Amino acid sequence: MFEIRKAVITGGSSGIGMEVVNLLLQDGCEVFSLSRTVHPRENFNSQGTLHQIACDITDESSLDDAFSRIGELTDSFDVLFSNAGFGISGSVSDTPKEQIVRMFDVHVFAAMETVRKSIPFLARSKGRIILTSSIAAVVSLPYQSYYSAVKASLNTLALALNTELKHNGIRAIAIMPGDTATGFTAKREKGTCDSPDVAERYHRSIARMERDEQTGASAKTVARKLLRITRKRAPKPLYGIGFFYRFVLVLFKILPVRLTNWAAGLLYG
Ligand SMILES: NC(=O)c1ccc[n+]([C@@H]2O[C@H](COP(=O)([O-])OP(=O)(O)OC[C@H]3O[C@@H](n4cnc5c(N)ncnc54)[C@H](OP(=O)(O)O)[C@@H]3O)[C@@H](O)[C@H]2O)c1
Repeated sequence: MFEIRKAVITGGSSGIGMEVVNLLLQDGCEVFSLSRTVHPRENFNSQGTLHQIACDITDESSLDDAFSRIGELTDSFDVLFSNAGFGISGSVSDTPKEQIVRMFDVHVFAAMETVRKSIPFLARSKGRIILTSSIAAVVSLPYQSYYSAVKASLNTLALALNTELKHNGIRAIAIMPGDTATGFTAKREKGTCDSPDVAERYHRSIARMERDEQTGASAKTVARKLLRITRKRAPKPLYGIGFFYRFVLVLFKILPVRLTNWAAGLLYG
């Protein structure tokens, strides 16, 4: 089993990330949590050592400062959990470019910058990079196309990183949770989609997605599974979480793409 003693996490202030932080603290780990929000220490599990560092990962100087602070406290850590994220919805044609850029910035560019800054620390521990992807990386979601696109990018990057960093002894793993009940749903930036030919389908689709998320797995369950994968002795580069979603991934691999894309459209189109 791979042992975690020290970890860095982005997006540890709520949802899945906060549960990962709490489970690590419960195990006595030292955790560096990077997010824009900093909570009172008593909001977290009382064991372990927690360093909350206020950081907007998309802001270069903020991320530099955060890693300088980490560097003052340690010269290595075992895992980077690159987990920060947010959702947007809207039709491909109606989504403003500014929002698309922000989506790619948080999920891909800032995530990779965090990875780059973590490599020297992880090389010393022969550590792991865990990228929180999503089942939406494989099941491309209508009206959440840009979210699907950033998560698909993370899967691709995990595969390449895994090969490139093998000589440093670092493993990169993209983990794809399915619907999870967190504050992510309420925080989603929703487009208006007013054009009459799209509006009804869009609103029906988003209502269904929101219902599925809010009746989905708990953040704690997902965090537990995510940590179980992180600790595997010989992990694969890509994982789904939960029996149902792993079954969906198998179907999407073996069935014709015309059929799987039709099925995704039937549910959310
Ligand atoms: N919920 C789901 O159904 C679901 C399913 C599959 C995958 N995921 C993925 O799981 C990850 C965690 O989501 P969640 O459901 O736990 O949502 P959440 O509760 O909204 O948590 C999102 C976290 O990301 C942080 N964050 C966002 N932008 C940031 C920025 N610019 N700089 C630093 N931190 C930032 C937030 O912290 P601050 O706001 O304090 O900065 C927060 O801690 C995301 O990558 C999401 O895409 C979620």
